[in-house]
Amino acid sequence: MARTVFRLFTMSVAVLLLLGLRVAAEGRRNRCFFNRTQESCVCYNLSEETASSIIQCLPATVVEFWGGDLEKYTALPIRDLDDSVIDTLGSLIIQKIIIGNVLVPEMLLARVLKFFSYTHVQELAFESCIFQGTGDWRDMEGQDLPILSLSFHNVTSAPLTGSEPAFSSLGRWLGTLEELAVTGSRVTSLPCAIGRLLRALHSLNLAHNSLGDGSLAPAFCQGALPQLQQLSLHHNNLSSYHGVCEGVGLLPQLRHLDLSHNQLVADPSSSCQWPPSLLHFNLSNTGLDEVPALLPPHLEVLDMSHNHLHAVDVSLSSMKKLFLSQNLLQAVPSIRNYPMLDTLHLDNNFISELPRAEMKLLGQLQDVAVAGNPFSCSCSGAGGLQALAATGHLGQGWPGDYRCHSPEQYQGWQVAQVPMSVLRCDPATVVAPICVALALLAVAGAVWLARSRSCHRA
Ligand SMILES: *[C@@H]1O[C@H](CO)[C@@H](O)[C@H](O)[C@H]1NC(C)=O
Ligand SMILES: *[C@@H]1O[C@H](CO)[C@@H](O)[C@H](O)[C@H]1NC(C)=O
Ligand SMILES: *[C@@H]1O[C@H](CO)[C@@H](O)[C@H](O)[C@H]1NC(C)=O
Ligand SMILES: *[C@@H]1O[C@H](CO)[C@@H](O)[C@H](O)[C@H]1NC(C)=O
Ligand SMILES: *[C@@H]1O[C@H](CO)[C@@H](O)[C@H](O)[C@H]1NC(C)=O
Repeated sequence: MARTVFRLFTMSVAVLLLLGLRVAAEGRRNRCFFNRTQESCVCYNLSEETASSIIQCLPATVVEFWGGDLEKYTALPIRDLDDSVIDTLGSLIIQKIIIGNVLVPEMLLARVLKFFSYTHVQELAFESCIFQGTGDWRDMEGQDLPILSLSFHNVTSAPLTGSEPAFSSLGRWLGTLEELAVTGSRVTSLPCAIGRLLRALHSLNLAHNSLGDGSLAPAFCQGALPQLQQLSLHHNNLSSYHGVCEGVGLLPQLRHLDLSHNQLVADPSSSCQWPPSLLHFNLSNTGLDEVPALLPPHLEVLDMSHNHLHAVDVSLSSMKKLFLSQNLLQAVPSIRNYPMLDTLHLDNNFISELPRAEMKLLGQLQDVAVAGNPFSCSCSGAGGLQALAATGHLGQGWPGDYRCHSPEQYQGWQVAQVPMSVLRCDPATVVAPICVALALLAVAGAVWLARSRSCHRA
């Protein structure tokens, strides 16, 4: 993976190099297309012929290169750039470069990467690239680069073997990198040494790889990624909730952790404590049938949608957003346990009624969603939902996705269409006054009768 990172760099440099080569290829087919509204430019089939056409990309802030094979340039002699080229690079407004579907010799990347220091490119992304061979990175020793965000998606490179020297040569720049993504690239490990070089990194995305429980602790070793705030591990090969907890225990600034789409098992006897900095936790689609007993203590956002939860009875006073859609819940969790809550999603569960006692609290949330549940359209059921909808805080799905499951007469009806007549729903409020009136009438009648009798007598 370390290698991948370095290889990736090289490629972008090659692009700039080609720009610098200014190979005259006038009259050839246009290969770059500038889109004024998007301020972006797309070039196809990267080669020296691209160089003549790349002029069109000068006003772009985003430049994409798709397709091409740079193998034949590996042995190209690369001189230091002359001043006019350096001036040109310095005047470019390009901020982001995307390189896709390109075969990149690492040797070439290693030689051209340093030229990025003359540009203002802050983001570099490689998609579906193949990195070839090994580069000699010594030229990068002590070199600063303006690139703050680096990403690799679906890239292939040789397995990691003894690439620590390469890492340390890039150390100066890696120490300033803020965002790194290596996704969909069959990554199984991240060396501790690279984590220690990434001193300023605040976001790391390793989604869609093959990381297992055992690969986390070595990657997030003591001193690695000291500024990391966001870690995304969705779609990997993680299986132990406890193991992940142990694995990220040394990340002191971690705020946001995404473990969705892993098949996790939570061991109830575990006593592992999550970093107290953790505020946002995504456990969506992780196969859990219970809310794990040990959650990060100051959690504000918890996504446990798409699991097999039957009940939720945790209380976390800091909780602001709770996502519990697509579970097996039969009741609304007691929201008194969450005084800060503003969002509650409970779509597609087995909830038949919203508790009357909590209705007022639910109405105070900013965003409530309960669509796709088998509602009982009794007076309290349908009436409660209609009242909640009237607050305007019911999320999308109302009224179409809120349907009655019972009683039989309303089965399949939209909850919104169930008539709420006073007589049907709250007979007591209608009947009681009638009874009182009747009683009064009877009394009045009796008095009148008594009086008229006494009159007779008199
Ligand atoms: C520029 O990009 C926009 C949005 O992708 C697209 O609608 C438009 O057709 C493009 N213009 C040209 C000239 O390609
Ligand atoms: C890129 O190369 C492919 C084949 O190598 C060709 O079919 C395609 O037309 C080329 N695209 C451009 C824009 O030159
Ligand atoms: C991944 O990259 C390879 C080239 O390395 C490409 O052939 C393949 O289509 C890409 N897959 C996806 C899903 O983009
Ligand atoms: C996932 O992990 C298991 C062991 O937990 C291992 O047997 C399997 O090969 C791993 N799968 C991948 C794709 O790495
Ligand atoms: C959690 O992850 C899922 C799937 O990866 C995503 O769709 C969802 O938006 C995430 N939830 C939050 C609250 O970010």
